[in-house]
Amino acid sequence: MARLGREVRPVSYPRGEIRASDFRVVEVEVRPLRRGEVLVRNTWTSVDAALRLRLRERAPAGYFPAFPLDEPMDGIMTVGEVVESRADGFTSGDTVWHASGWRDYAVVEAERPALGGVGTLTKLDVRSAPPQAHLGPLGASGLTAYAGLFHVAGLREGDVVWVSAAAGAVGSLVVQLAKLGGHRVIGSAGSDDKVRHLVADLGVDAAFNHHDGPLPDLLREAAPDGIDVYFDNVGGDHLEAALGALRRAGRVVICGMVSEYGAQTPPPGPGNLMLAVTKGLTIRGFRGSDHTFLLPEMRRRMGSWLREGRLRHRETVVEGLAQAPAALAALLRGDNTGKTLVRIEDVPHRGNADH
Ligand SMILES: NC(=O)c1ccc[n+]([C@@H]2O[C@H](COP(=O)([O-])OP(=O)(O)OC[C@H]3O[C@@H](n4cnc5c(N)ncnc54)[C@H](OP(=O)(O)O)[C@@H]3O)[C@@H](O)[C@H]2O)c1
Repeated sequence: MARLGREVRPVSYPRGEIRASDFRVVEVEVRPLRRGEVLVRNTWTSVDAALRLRLRERAPAGYFPAFPLDEPMDGIMTVGEVVESRADGFTSGDTVWHASGWRDYAVVEAERPALGGVGTLTKLDVRSAPPQAHLGPLGASGLTAYAGLFHVAGLREGDVVWVSAAAGAVGSLVVQLAKLGGHRVIGSAGSDDKVRHLVADLGVDAAFNHHDGPLPDLLREAAPDGIDVYFDNVGGDHLEAALGALRRAGRVVICGMVSEYGAQTPPPGPGNLMLAVTKGLTIRGFRGSDHTFLLPEMRRRMGSWLREGRLRHRETVVEGLAQAPAALAALLRGDNTGKTLVRIEDVPHRGNADH
C-alpha cells in the first residue's frame, strides 16, 4: 500500500474575502519516485499576499497562472525534509526548499525550475538559521525586499523612504534594510500595535496607522518635507498619496498592490498620475523572481545581519495544514505581523511507508 498524503485544493474562486468553503483537504496516494525526483515531507509552507492573485479565474497577464480548481497548488514556497531520493545531490534527511506547497508530502523533480527559479529544489544550510527562516528573510521575502530596495529603487544618499504594509513579511525587511543604508524611513501599517512594533523593534523614524485619517495628511505629518522613494506594497490610495508626497526626481518601486487583489474589477489608477510628469518621477515595477542572481549575495548579507541582531524578524505561525486558507484570509485582513507561515503537522502511520 502506498503512502498517503494530504493536499489543500481550491474548489471555487473566492468572491471578495477568502472562505474555508473555497478549499478542501484531500487525501491522496503519494506516487513512487521516478529517476531525478525526491520525496519531501513538508514541514513549513508559505502564506503570501500574492496567492490571492492566483485564486481567480485568470491571474494578471504575465504573472504566475491561476491555480486550477481541485488540483494541488503548485508554486508556493515550502520547506521540508527529504525522506527518499532518486536525484543526484539529494539524500534522505536533507532540508530543502521547493515550490510544491500546501500539502504534506511532495514529489519534486530536482532539476525542474519553479517560480521563475526561486522555487527550484534547493538544499538549505540550517546550521545558523531555522528552516522556516528560508521562507522569510533568507527566502523569497528577503530576495524581494533586497532586490527591490537595493537594485530597483535607485537609492541615493539622504533619500527619505516610505514603505507601506511595513509590518508585513516584505515590508518589515525593507524598512530595516533602508535603515541599515542610513536613510530616514517612514513605515505605515494597519494597527497601533504594528505602528509600535515598527518604531520600537524595527527602528523606523516615523510610523502611522493608515486607518487613522486621510493618507496625505498622515504622510505629511510623518514626512513634512516629502519623500524620495516610495516602496509600494499596497497600491490604490497609498500610491496616490505617495505621488503627492514625492519630491522632484523621486522614485516609486512597485512591489505589489495588495489592496486590489480581492477586487472583482480593478479600481481605476491614481487620479494624480500627471505628477509623474511634472515631478520627473520614475515608477518601476519588479519581481523578486527576476533577481535570482542576487540570492547568494542576499543570503550571505541578510544571514550575517540576522546573526548580528541588526535585522529582526517576526513570524505569524498558524498550526496545521488545513488552516492554510484561514491563514491567507487573516493575512489579507492584516491580522499578521512579519512572515506568515503554516507549520505542517506530522501525521504518522498513514498508509504504508514501504514503496
Ligand atoms: N514583486 C514581487 O516579486 C513580490 C514578492 C513577494 C511579495 N510581493 C508583494 O509584497 C506585498 C506584501 O506581501 P507579503 O506576502 O509580504 O504580505 P504581508 O505584507 O505579510 O501581508 C499583507 C499586508 O498587507 C496589508 N494590507 C492588506 N490590505 C490592505 C489595504 N487595503 N490597505 C493597506 N494595507 C493592506 C496588511 O497589513 P496592514 O495591517 O498594515 O494593513 C497585511 O498584513 C504584496 O503586495 C505582495 O504582492 C511582491
